[in-house]
Amino acid sequence: MSLPIRRFDALILGAGGAGLRAALQLAEAENRVAVVSKVFPTRSHTVAAQGGVNAALANVLPDNWHWHMYDTVKGGDYLADQDAVEYMCRAAPTLVYELEHYGVPFSRLDDGRIYQRAFGGQSQRFGGDQAARTCAAADRTGHAILHTLYQQNIRARTHFFDEYFAVDLLSDDQGTILGALALDIATGEPLLIESKTTLIATGGCGQLFRTNTNARINTGDGMAMALRAGIPLQDMEFFQFHPTGIAGKGMLITEGARGEGGFLVNADGERFMERYAPQAKDLASRDVVSRAIATEVREGRGCGPEKDHVLLRVDHLGEAVVAKRLPGIRETCRTFLHLDPAVAPIPVFPTAHYVMGGIPTNRFGEVVVPRANKAEEEIPGLFAVGECACVSVHGANRLGGNSLLDILVFGRAAANRMIEYLKENRMHRALDPASAERAAARLSRWDKTGDGETVAEVRDALKRTMETHVGVFRTEAVMREGVQELKQIRQRLDRVRLKDMSQVFNTARIEALELENLVDIAMAVMLSAAERQESRGAHSRIDYPERDDQKWLKHSLYSLQEDRVDWKPVRTKPLTVESFPPKARVY
Ligand code: FUM
Repeated sequence: MSLPIRRFDALILGAGGAGLRAALQLAEAENRVAVVSKVFPTRSHTVAAQGGVNAALANVLPDNWHWHMYDTVKGGDYLADQDAVEYMCRAAPTLVYELEHYGVPFSRLDDGRIYQRAFGGQSQRFGGDQAARTCAAADRTGHAILHTLYQQNIRARTHFFDEYFAVDLLSDDQGTILGALALDIATGEPLLIESKTTLIATGGCGQLFRTNTNARINTGDGMAMALRAGIPLQDMEFFQFHPTGIAGKGMLITEGARGEGGFLVNADGERFMERYAPQAKDLASRDVVSRAIATEVREGRGCGPEKDHVLLRVDHLGEAVVAKRLPGIRETCRTFLHLDPAVAPIPVFPTAHYVMGGIPTNRFGEVVVPRANKAEEEIPGLFAVGECACVSVHGANRLGGNSLLDILVFGRAAANRMIEYLKENRMHRALDPASAERAAARLSRWDKTGDGETVAEVRDALKRTMETHVGVFRTEAVMREGVQELKQIRQRLDRVRLKDMSQVFNTARIEALELENLVDIAMAVMLSAAERQESRGAHSRIDYPERDDQKWLKHSLYSLQEDRVDWKPVRTKPLTVESFPPKARVY
């Protein structure tokens, strides 16, 4: 097999904020860096992040990193690894000021400092009054950050493979990761990208669900790549449903709307969050608010002719506040609902948003896997950051504003460790030809027309299975049925029909490859959720309504090869401060 080859020091898969922050660090240290992106980089999903990035700057209300750490551990229902949380919360202000210096156009207070808004689950003094920790560029913060990081990378001479699809990892015969096979989407030509070190930063997998806030590109490609390489996925049962997606459609209405003073009402006009979270109300953590909305609807207090949603009100804030602080969601509402949120309430319902789980890493972004009867081991040459990774700072439920922070902090940390790795691994190693052949075989699987259903039909079935069997509320029987349905979907995938390849764009093959990725990840979510017999954070079981720290304060690890879930301990010890031990979680 002879394929064109390009060689780099570092290969980054994915051009969202995590990939670009890492690429910048590596390129500035004079490494030859390549970024592979399915889309033009500034279309990566970070562009859709609205409300902001958390950092205890104390510009609006008193704050410090230790309170931020407490809120993050509590928000994650005590499943987060506290060393990583401490590291992230301490680093946050530095990373935000760095962005400011790179040119991110943050909103400003009258005195010129960065504007910060209140977000869910934030408190002063370890559970006291509401904090205001989320640094915002109106409600288009991700857009501002992504464009700035892209421009900085152009300046630093990062090489971009725009509109290339990463197919699979490459390795030597010892298992050291040496780059990836990529596919030029426009031409369909494969390309071997060999690199001394590789970072997976491919984002999340929200396309598992029919109603979601995610871009079409969020098909979990990097996570599935890791699964195929024998790396388990951690904590995949924890899927966050954002409380305020546009009802029936899913587009994100930022938590910043509630941070600016918006609130939720049911069909009786009642501010129902006062019953579910007497102190934090509409700014309780996302899992709490999503369950409250779902409960209101289930109990018949939903709005509209179908009683299937609740209303988010920002119309009392005044036109000036909406125009200044929430221009993006105003535009979204006008486009998709033909209403102006400055004058009318927004119909909302929980929508799939973010997976807390992913490729297991330590706080240096190194991919680490447990070995039988041994401590965890790193996979040499391989790193992962961002939503595709599980470091784990979000535990069982991520706080709003912590995902932009995660990608910045761990994007930089991973790059720093990669720079060290490159100093010790100066030469390219010889690729195992078998690894390139395995990757290429994945492509040839789709050089066929098939006689079964279309990709779209199978994808639709997958999304419905996920939505029906592993939603906001879960039970054993329904999830076990879901596992069986997914097994059938795997078989349906084998017979999928592509149209005549000479007649269609290469995108048909890309969609098939993406669906293959989604199906593997779907099983990770469903099976891990069925195995965890407790309720914790975003994983809410009707048949096991309580959190059970005795049995379940541990991370799940799903392996594809045996469709199996194993477990590993939570790192409850922070770096320098006392642990936050599990306690009842009330807001
Ligand atoms: O609501 C939002 O603006 C989303 C933010 C996040 O997921 O961090």
